[in-house]
Amino acid sequence: MPDNRCVVLAARPDGAPRESDFRVETRPLADVADGQILCRNLYISLDAGFRNWMDEGSGDNVLPAMPLGEPVMGLTMSRVEESRHPDFSEGDILMARFAWEEYTVTDAGDFISPIRNVEYPLNYYLGVLGDTGLSGYFGLTDFGRVQAGETVLVSAAAGAVGSIAGQIAKLMGARTVGISSGAEKCQRLVSELGYDAAIDRQSADLDAAFSNACPDGIDVYFDNVGGPLLERVLDHINEDARILLCGSVATYNETESVPGPSNLFQLTTKHAHMHGFMTHLNLDRYDAARAELASWIADGKLVVHEHRLQGIESVGRAFCDLFAGVNFGKTIVEL
Ligand SMILES: NC(=O)c1ccc[n+]([C@@H]2O[C@H](COP(=O)([O-])OP(=O)(O)OC[C@H]3O[C@@H](n4cnc5c(N)ncnc54)[C@H](OP(=O)(O)O)[C@@H]3O)[C@@H](O)[C@H]2O)c1
Repeated sequence: MPDNRCVVLAARPDGAPRESDFRVETRPLADVADGQILCRNLYISLDAGFRNWMDEGSGDNVLPAMPLGEPVMGLTMSRVEESRHPDFSEGDILMARFAWEEYTVTDAGDFISPIRNVEYPLNYYLGVLGDTGLSGYFGLTDFGRVQAGETVLVSAAAGAVGSIAGQIAKLMGARTVGISSGAEKCQRLVSELGYDAAIDRQSADLDAAFSNACPDGIDVYFDNVGGPLLERVLDHINEDARILLCGSVATYNETESVPGPSNLFQLTTKHAHMHGFMTHLNLDRYDAARAELASWIADGKLVVHEHRLQGIESVGRAFCDLFAGVNFGKTIVEL
């Protein structure tokens, strides 16, 4: 049995995560018992949402709170190396909710989605064809009701979800506007992801930035960040607007409870809708959605950006960088 290098939660983040909150350790790998599988983790996906389960007492219906000193949970692409479980064979490829580690021994009771026919590059199953790309797809196709010519605004528009959501909205005929941080990323939203306009979330006058970039108002807001930006956006929505609550990365690091938008009455007067959704609840629809996304990639209608790092030592830094806006596209570590 090889030794297993893993990334443990060394300290509970106090606000934004820091690299020192994580530590690489080498641990012996457990023997594979009856009913278990041994997996080699090939890629680790870095997802800002997992910050939510790093706090004391943070467990909920999705995940228990992560124990201090134990490997950090995340999403992986993994290959079965040994199986003593009737449902799995050596060589099977899985998208799984495993820890940040090189190998995982499990009784397969965790969130595991076997990829029975591997048709696309494995890394795509964590990004454009994984939970993040599919969040853009299901969010817009299930709840967006996007009409040609409408204005669709996307926050964290350069990120894993946002970079795909913006392009899908464009394919649906919308005028797309992306929010990011800094002039360079905003410029890349337009030149590389096809957004019609971009807004720097660090602008001194955000209201003016929204009015300039969305002169006809906002019909759909694909919201990845929540927090103060959501409140500002609500002041610019149109009648019958749809607010798609995909995530709230602006609040994950808050140590005090975050006040809600003060202007929810906008939803009343504009007879608008807010809709939250969890993509992993649609596992039975993943194959069909993947086929459509893959056809767009093959036809050159959808471009894929990835922020890729190498090796288990990079995982902690890659996670912290999500909150500093370093990435353009899906953040992934190849082991
Ligand atoms: N509902 C679901 O099932 C589901 C599934 C997957 C992901 N999500 C959610 O989708 C959202 C995006 O996830 P992702 O994996 O695609 O991450 P990501 O966009 O690749 O990375 C996070 C980005 O958020 C922006 N950001 C960071 N701190 C911020 C702040 N304080 N205020 C505003 N923006 C901030 C940064 O972009 P800029 O600097 O460019 O603005 C950063 O690059 C997250 O909230 C995640 O939890 C939901």
